[in-house]
Amino acid sequence: MAWMQRLTSYGLGPARCRLLIGHVHGSVLRGFGTSSVNAAVKKLVPNEYDEPCVKTPIPGPRSLELIKNLDDITKNSGTVNYFVDFKASLGNYVVDADGNRLLDLFMQISSIPIGYNHPAVIDILKNSDNLHVMANRPALGMFPVEAFPNMLDEAFLLCAPRGLNLVQPMMCGACSNENAIKQAFIWYRRKKRGGPATQEEIDSSVTGKEPGCPPYTVLSFNGSFHGRSLGCLSLTNSKPVYRLDIPTLDWPVAPFPRLSYPLEDFGSENQAEESRCLQEVIRLIEANKVRGKDIAAVIVEPIQGEGGDNHATADFFHQLQRICKEHGVALIIDEVQTGCGTTGHFWAHEAWNLPEPPDFVTFSKKMLSGGYYFKDEFAVDAPSRIFNTWMGDPPKLLMLAAIVKVIKEMDLVGVARDSGQYLMDGIKDLQSKYPEQLSRARGMGTHIAVDCKDGESAAKIMKLVREKGVIVGLCGKQSIRVRPALVFQPHHADIFLETFNKVLANL
Ligand SMILES: Cc1ncc(COP(=O)(O)O)c(C=O)c1O
Repeated sequence: MAWMQRLTSYGLGPARCRLLIGHVHGSVLRGFGTSSVNAAVKKLVPNEYDEPCVKTPIPGPRSLELIKNLDDITKNSGTVNYFVDFKASLGNYVVDADGNRLLDLFMQISSIPIGYNHPAVIDILKNSDNLHVMANRPALGMFPVEAFPNMLDEAFLLCAPRGLNLVQPMMCGACSNENAIKQAFIWYRRKKRGGPATQEEIDSSVTGKEPGCPPYTVLSFNGSFHGRSLGCLSLTNSKPVYRLDIPTLDWPVAPFPRLSYPLEDFGSENQAEESRCLQEVIRLIEANKVRGKDIAAVIVEPIQGEGGDNHATADFFHQLQRICKEHGVALIIDEVQTGCGTTGHFWAHEAWNLPEPPDFVTFSKKMLSGGYYFKDEFAVDAPSRIFNTWMGDPPKLLMLAAIVKVIKEMDLVGVARDSGQYLMDGIKDLQSKYPEQLSRARGMGTHIAVDCKDGESAAKIMKLVREKGVIVGLCGKQSIRVRPALVFQPHHADIFLETFNKVLANL
């Protein structure tokens, strides 16, 4: 078999070959569509391309021309990698404006859930019954479309985290975090006040003064990323480019554990590191209370994404939840990047088996629209306290409902878990083969990263891999990260691993 030869040609062990066979013939794929160009591999995406095809440098001449056109209009095109031909893109493959077909392990910064142009999504858009929902964007807080409650049910509640059955739709990741935080502040104040707001509070609030606007704070962690809106920026501690020149709120920041790898060799060191960080959380909560700047909420990512794929153990999060409860502080889990199946759990925090759900779980990206789940006690007590014109987007809910159905019917969360294990084994093999280039391979499901020698080396490897037709992302100071769609399979992993191997061999 060609793919088996490919595996052995870059020195992968028999364990991984066996796992691949398991995927081809095993239960994970049973019942998932039959179309397959390569007879050996059952593709989850019918008619998907077999391999990348690179025709020009990337960005190619057409992308460069468009980048210039864009820059003439925005003077802000510096982050554009290449322009995309969405019509030609399919499944795990993105096609750029120059006709280069690239295996995409980054998926629009982790935001395409089941691959490009999935038929279930296209069907929603082609269905004329949905035309008027798409043609008329409502001010959802005031004039929602009739089907809105039903849409929320089928899109957000069918995949809600265990134990959470209230959801507030929003626009994007940052505004989901901001509004969850607002709700936490309102809850905290209500709890402390023990009754309705006084007239003095109401009057002073309009001018932004105490007692109507209390100096409460939110605790975040070093290396975190929670968005770039003005409020969230005070919680985003990963890179100077986000914060330079912009005034931010004086909110406390605790250290996030820096784990040593492989985890099995550093059990006690990592435990001590987590304990150090948790002690600092307690100290900050207590110290801020003394200076009248109570911490009303703690916000944390299950895996710090933009900050460098920093993980902590389930025990860390158990302790964090316990500390928050003991001090009457709300716990907000930011699942904007980790949510919707990529970690091999629909919600990453579900892997921790917390004794009770988090107070808030925020989301966006693969969920197509922003929003947050929350517990009953955090519900607002008056209209218009959580509000903006759009507050979500009904067509996105229709699309998400179709996506959630596909994820469940095809057990794509299980696919992410298995494909992730396969990919991780391959990355670890390469890490052993190139110890001077790669270290700290880590991940959950397909949400995987590995460190390079330094930032320059990571950027160089990313570029060289792209020249050979595979897209990966960067994060933190020196990490390569992958964030494939949930239709990513072991045969895609093989293409990436083979490409990665070639690049590493020639550095
Ligand atoms: C963990 C996390 N939170 C929040 C955000 C912000 O989301 P958005 O870019 O939709 O505002 C991001 C974006 O990358 C993220 O990774």
